[in-house]
Amino acid sequence: MVEQAGSKNLDNLPVAIEQRIGELVARMTLAEKIGQMSQLSGSGGAELKRAVAEGRVGSILNDVNTENINELQRIAREESRLGIPLLVGRDVIHGFRTIFPIPLGQAASWNPAVVREGARIAALEAASTGVNWTFAPMIDVTRDPRWGRIAESLGEDPWLASVLGAAMVQGFQGDDLAGKGTIAACAKHFAGYGATEGGRDYNTANIPENELRNVYLPPFQAAADAGVATFMASFSDLNGVPASGNEFLMKQILRQEWGYKGFVVSDWESIRQLSVHGFTANDKEAAYEAANAGVDMEMVSTTYADHLPALVAEGRIDEREIDRMVTSILRIKARLGLFDNSHTEPTDFPALVNQQHREAARQAARQSVVMLQNRNRVLPLNSGKLNTLALIGPLADDPYEQLGTWIFDGQAEDSVTLLQALRDAVGNKVKVNFARGLVNTRSKSRAEFAEAIALAEAADAVVLALGEEAILSGEAHSRADIRLPGYQQQLIEALAATGKPLILVVMAGRPLTLTDIVDKVDAILYSWHPGTMGGPAIADILLGKHSPSGKLPVTFPNTVGQIPIYYSHKNTGKPPSDDTIAHIDDIDAKAPQTSLGMTSFYLDAGYKPLFPFGFGLSYTEFAYSDIRISSERPHVGSDIQVSALLTNTGKMEAEEIVQLYLRDLVGNVTRPVRELKGFQRVRLQPGEARRVGFTLTSEELAFYNRKMQKVVEPGQFHVWIGGSSEAELATQFELLGETVLLP
Ligand code: NOJ
Repeated sequence: MVEQAGSKNLDNLPVAIEQRIGELVARMTLAEKIGQMSQLSGSGGAELKRAVAEGRVGSILNDVNTENINELQRIAREESRLGIPLLVGRDVIHGFRTIFPIPLGQAASWNPAVVREGARIAALEAASTGVNWTFAPMIDVTRDPRWGRIAESLGEDPWLASVLGAAMVQGFQGDDLAGKGTIAACAKHFAGYGATEGGRDYNTANIPENELRNVYLPPFQAAADAGVATFMASFSDLNGVPASGNEFLMKQILRQEWGYKGFVVSDWESIRQLSVHGFTANDKEAAYEAANAGVDMEMVSTTYADHLPALVAEGRIDEREIDRMVTSILRIKARLGLFDNSHTEPTDFPALVNQQHREAARQAARQSVVMLQNRNRVLPLNSGKLNTLALIGPLADDPYEQLGTWIFDGQAEDSVTLLQALRDAVGNKVKVNFARGLVNTRSKSRAEFAEAIALAEAADAVVLALGEEAILSGEAHSRADIRLPGYQQQLIEALAATGKPLILVVMAGRPLTLTDIVDKVDAILYSWHPGTMGGPAIADILLGKHSPSGKLPVTFPNTVGQIPIYYSHKNTGKPPSDDTIAHIDDIDAKAPQTSLGMTSFYLDAGYKPLFPFGFGLSYTEFAYSDIRISSERPHVGSDIQVSALLTNTGKMEAEEIVQLYLRDLVGNVTRPVRELKGFQRVRLQPGEARRVGFTLTSEELAFYNRKMQKVVEPGQFHVWIGGSSEAELATQFELLGETVLLP
């Protein structure tokens, strides 16, 4: 299902290198071993230098000053007793200096090649400073847009997150971790963080094991299969056991079941926090639980350095286990080629934010834009017919906010805003007048409304750039109300009153609830936080140089009370339909209670989302027809080919993301009403038709049953092919034979 990188199989280092590592470990004192297992946040201070020289630290994070890094590497190589180089970590989440769309935006491209290229460029730029390890991809499946970290995620679906997460790993790591410009990746946060209760960051996650295996773990397994060098333990607790002390996750699943050979790093002070969780009584017990669970490296807190020596002396932690942990860290250092060369010459690398990197970021941003509405075909704008365009909104010309969360090394000065891009694109042909309307997205002042309204009245059309500032999503930035913040709705209403065509461009770190404004605007382009080249990418689409082609990687709720709402839900025993739901306003006074015919819905919000997973409009139209299946009665174990004819019935060349969904009608555990099991991005000329085919193997039909076995069960399946999770074109098959277990 997922393409494999050449760096797969972390266990097949050349024998000579394994031997060298073995010899090195044999020469290490316990203190030196624990040093390798310690990561400190560094900025080149004297204390850090001393710690490196004394072999008390194996990795640093958060220093991107090449001179500092080179000096620390020199000290590690030349002054420490064993000369072991450092891992230099950094959160390179969606670009280093050239910022790509936030990961959730990249997921909306449904394009592994775009995601891989974004990560390759991010790695190249980061490596040019001396960074050799990123804490990405973040592959927490999440179904809660309140959670600020949804911005960093690849959305709600295990299949999509698996394919794109693996592509990101390949982009960062390339075929050879020792190659120039490749860096080690980190699959995070293992595991279950995306199910944080109520969408509040760092909160508890309770996930039944069956759901954990069917929904939350697949992207991590795909990352492990793609050869990801490291894993990061989550801050959260999972079913009462914080991830950083969770033996079931780290030992049973990751190491025993998946045979993972890379290493696990804690999150920032998450080992010390085991005591804050109330899982351990003090730092010493925290160190014990984390080491016992198999967390190989401690980020920032120092419980390992402070307490592992005593725990080993007391016989509670076996030094052979410490050796395994150190070995797994040294292996990654060897894979990165750091023992041969840990010095970085920035001049060996292409310039940061060069033209090629910008072009890739523009393409990624363009493919990430999802068109949610286009009434009366107001888009694309016809620059030949327009005289004056009003561009309004606090995000239309803000080079910083368009970059989004987690951009430690991104610079606002590199950004091209929508205002700049539109003016560059239309030149003298169209007058583009700009007013902010609001000081920022949270502003609750109408002071600048009059200016915006005047510009709108004098224009042929209005483009409104609204949404969320970057700081409103990301770590520790959850929101309970996910409507447009501040007076943005009031601004929309004021501009709608002008009667001019209103085109809303949303830049945001999460799905927002747009129900209150969806009828007040003609078109909606959802661009997420689009990054450095967001302006030109959005302008390309507004002006019709490219058709929008993004599709939602996450369901958009009507209202926050519907959360969690996701397409691959279970049917329940009382599934709703339009005929079985009632609305709170239509219920008679003193209506008697009855359970007859009742179904699963909200009296005030029905059961449907505002926009479903997989949805996104185009400037052209695509028709799906003639679905075919290779066999209607295949046997368990045989491959099944399913295809449909896709036709561009509109007037513009465009790309469509063809999606395949599956339903296993009866299972040992209840199965979702639909599950994504394949997708392809297809470009068609107007009038062109192409048959798009998918192969369903046992892997696609399998799920974890009540006994937590991965099984393929015989029985009835439905298959849909179409342009969203509400695709209607369907076929079915009956799988014959006996249940089989998959490894
Ligand atoms: C905490 C975050 O949870 C994690 O994702 C990040 O990589 C580390 N801090 C390091 O900055």
